[in-house]
Amino acid sequence: MSEVLREKIKQKKAKIGIIGLGYVGLPLAVEFSRRGFTVHGIDVDNSKIKLIQQKKNYIKDVINKDFLYAINNRLFTASATYDKVGEQDIFFICVPTPVTPNKTPDISYIMNATEEIFKRMKRHTLFVLKSTTFPGTTEDYVMPLLERKGWKAGKDYYLAFSPERVDPGNKTYNTGNTPIVVGGVTRKCAELSVMILQEVATKVHTVSSPRVAEMEKLLENIFRSVNIALVNEMALLCDRMGNINIWEVIEAASTKPFGFMPFYPGPGIGGHCIQIDPYYLDWQARQYDFHTKFIELAAESNEEMPFYVKDLVMKELAKLSVNSANANVLILGTTFKRDVDDPRNSPAIKVIELLYKEGIPNINFHDPYMRNIRLLDRIFRVQELNEKLLRDADVTVIITDHTNYDYEWIVAYSKRIIDTRNATKKIRNNREKITLLGAGTYKIY
Ligand SMILES: NC(=O)c1ccc[n+]([C@@H]2O[C@H](COP(=O)([O-])OP(=O)(O)OC[C@H]3O[C@@H](n4cnc5c(N)ncnc54)[C@H](O)[C@@H]3O)[C@@H](O)[C@H]2O)c1
Repeated sequence: MSEVLREKIKQKKAKIGIIGLGYVGLPLAVEFSRRGFTVHGIDVDNSKIKLIQQKKNYIKDVINKDFLYAINNRLFTASATYDKVGEQDIFFICVPTPVTPNKTPDISYIMNATEEIFKRMKRHTLFVLKSTTFPGTTEDYVMPLLERKGWKAGKDYYLAFSPERVDPGNKTYNTGNTPIVVGGVTRKCAELSVMILQEVATKVHTVSSPRVAEMEKLLENIFRSVNIALVNEMALLCDRMGNINIWEVIEAASTKPFGFMPFYPGPGIGGHCIQIDPYYLDWQARQYDFHTKFIELAAESNEEMPFYVKDLVMKELAKLSVNSANANVLILGTTFKRDVDDPRNSPAIKVIELLYKEGIPNINFHDPYMRNIRLLDRIFRVQELNEKLLRDADVTVIITDHTNYDYEWIVAYSKRIIDTRNATKKIRNNREKITLLGAGTYKIY
């Protein structure tokens, strides 16, 4: 009965199952434990389970003290099997939602996790899907599977979609202080979801259905994709014009206190969200004979950026009269964004691949958060960042602008720099060495 679950939530006695203990699932598990709930996490990746059992925190944004508190007090346990599903009252599904090589949605992880839960879940369980996906996934795919025994959502079990908003590396907003959106299949599903989500969020905003919540998440990410594509296009134009610096333009536009929000150009987008989500909507729209031209164009334009950066490097080498076979290129920053340790879909890796395919065998990289990169037929080994590494490179390319880099020192010892992030903004010495994406030949002295 929903009243029993309601009471359990009120008394923090509801047992929580988190499926998928990655960048989304682990912070959520620790947050619920911190608030006094008992959490059991399940992940098919045994290496993550081992780390948890060895009390080793593997997500940078999760505060170590909170992680250890959860484990030491037996508030958080984890396993690679689904044996404990029958003991849990509430599930949060935080598994990957990638695209196939043809850029179509791959919801197989959601369906596999749902199947495993379905086989073992007890009546009156609440099931909340958090993985980003196309509208209709919860009601048209997850719900029919969960109802194979004849159970009905809102009566025998409860089902909702609540998108995740965690922003790795964000020092201000985290799982605990970011408002959450939720849409339930029925009113009761929504009410129970709000009750449990209020335990970890300051504000929960309810929408009328899971579909609305699913679309809302796509809007958030596509909004970013489109705006980044817009500034990327303006950056390319500024490069062509040669006498306007796009970064200065954005800084000036940002002084407007309303109606403008700054987005920045760069070497391309990566990660698990804005690079993928537009394709989820695009795929679905086509089923309605609708073409999301604008969204598709933005995604394509963003995907062009690593190719553009590769071309900048090739031009720089040509100016130096260094041919590909003898060139030495250094890439700085290879995770997908500043100060995070996540390499997924990183534009840096794409740039390395493109340069390698141009016939440059000598490509080195450094990133404080990354190990070696296995790519094509090679392993690119992370290098120690020192004066020799900088001096030996014909061109040093700043792809990800980690804050712990000393850019003044990097510029001082590099021969040529391509800065794709305006990381060298404050540097006044040696500016003639720097090619800034979006500034053409315009130099700041
Ligand atoms: N990373 C982010 O910043 C972020 C932000 C908002 C939304 N999201 C969305 O959240 C979802 C999860 O993303 P993530 O970054 O945490 O992914 P992740 O790859 O870091 O973690 C997912 C985990 O799920 C596990 N898994 C896969 N199949 C499983 C199964 N059947 N049963 C149990 N575990 C399974 C994987 O081993 C992995 O550890 C995605 O839909 C993503 O788009 C991510």
